[in-house]
Amino acid sequence: MPRTAIRARLLDFLGDPAHSASAVRLVEDGLLLVEDGRIVARGEYGPLSRALSADEEVTDFSGCLLMPGFIDAHTHFPQLDVIASPANGLLDWLTNHTYPVEAKFADPEICLGAARFFLDELARHGTTSACVLGTVHAQSVDALFAEARERNVRLIAGKCLMDRNCPPELRDDADRGIEDSVDLATRWHGNGRLAYAITPRFAATSTERQLERAGELARARPDLYVQSHLAESEEEVRWIGELYPQARSYLDVYDTVGLLRELSLFAHCIWLDDADRRRFARSRAIAAVCPTSNLFLGSGLFDFGAAVQAGMTIALGTDVGGGQTFSMLATMRAAHDVARMKGTSLRATQLFYWATRGAADALGWEGAVGTLESGSEADFVVLDPAATPLLALRSAAADSIEALLFALMVLGDDRAVRETFIAGQPSKSWRRPATPLAAAPGDDNRTRVLARRFMGRLRNAPRGGVLKP
Ligand code: GUN
Ligand code: ZN
Repeated sequence: MPRTAIRARLLDFLGDPAHSASAVRLVEDGLLLVEDGRIVARGEYGPLSRALSADEEVTDFSGCLLMPGFIDAHTHFPQLDVIASPANGLLDWLTNHTYPVEAKFADPEICLGAARFFLDELARHGTTSACVLGTVHAQSVDALFAEARERNVRLIAGKCLMDRNCPPELRDDADRGIEDSVDLATRWHGNGRLAYAITPRFAATSTERQLERAGELARARPDLYVQSHLAESEEEVRWIGELYPQARSYLDVYDTVGLLRELSLFAHCIWLDDADRRRFARSRAIAAVCPTSNLFLGSGLFDFGAAVQAGMTIALGTDVGGGQTFSMLATMRAAHDVARMKGTSLRATQLFYWATRGAADALGWEGAVGTLESGSEADFVVLDPAATPLLALRSAAADSIEALLFALMVLGDDRAVRETFIAGQPSKSWRRPATPLAAAPGDDNRTRVLARRFMGRLRNAPRGGVLKP
């Protein structure tokens, strides 16, 4: 593959801007060189361009900001058709909108149609990695992984474990749920850039036995991720109190069985007390904060001030389809607004850090993504500060990188995403290559056969709309 040279303003983070004033690294007129899916050089355009050969073309994004791609720390690919479904809070929304749509994912064709649409949308919004919940059906995660493998996306996903308090067609059982998870992890974890997450949906839809089995697996396999929901709405927290009367708190339910640990992601984390926050921080688990979802469902306001004070690791999630958008810019904006409602002012640099390097490092991807460092994987986004008339007007008046990022997150959305590069490939309008799946490190033949089977069946399926009954 030939080398790609890109000219733009280069922005990344050397660390958490909360801890160091010099954590933001900006090259006003920069050049990035990409080869074989990796960044091979970065720096000032002037000196670095002299190393280009005479016939090497430069892709010119001058005026645009090129930064590590966004990482969505919590989202649901089967909930495309659930977005914009009004409800009286979380439990009503789950029962009347979400579960009926998820039941359709018994059909592998529905799964793959949704996986394609979902991955297209991630790329359109500048998101290069995500932590994704499937449905209870193993085939939903097979379809998502197969499609992500084809596009070489760095992705974490898992099938939901849920063996009670949900419709019978969405129920697994404690043993089979774990067997299916182990089988999926065997086939996909470490395959290309894919990773598996043990995914008990939330404590209300798992029996204690299922949570214990999930915890056993989490202890036996510290390399696997864990993802779940925690303390999202008050009504839910009351229900958890009834289901687990012996527990000190909702967090205690997960901690007792061994699910609270490094590489564990918990969405929401709104209704925690300070003792929970300190316990959460000590565990080094990740709070995936999903403000657009929390506002839409009326779940509550995440307390950024208290969480930072306690030392909790924070990442941001869209929580599609409780969340209303794939845009991490819109998610940052909502995070800012939610923080303001609790008396905290978040800086744009802090929010962009959480959405890029902060998430990457917390997920154990330090040095691989979330940075523009030479040698890292070429997952990055190009943002256009003049994408709309109002954004152009406001950006022109920005006198610092903080002010420019602030304008981008307040006024920007998918229109501000000029291009998304995934493993060095422009992916905002990804097109399926004519050649079938290529072998990659970590592939075994079984995986490729499975992936080809899904791809082959649906290669010519119409895009979108497949979830409608
Ligand atoms: N809690 C359990 N399941 C879900 C879900 O699908 N979305 C949200 N937002 N919360 C949940
Ligand atoms: Zn969720």
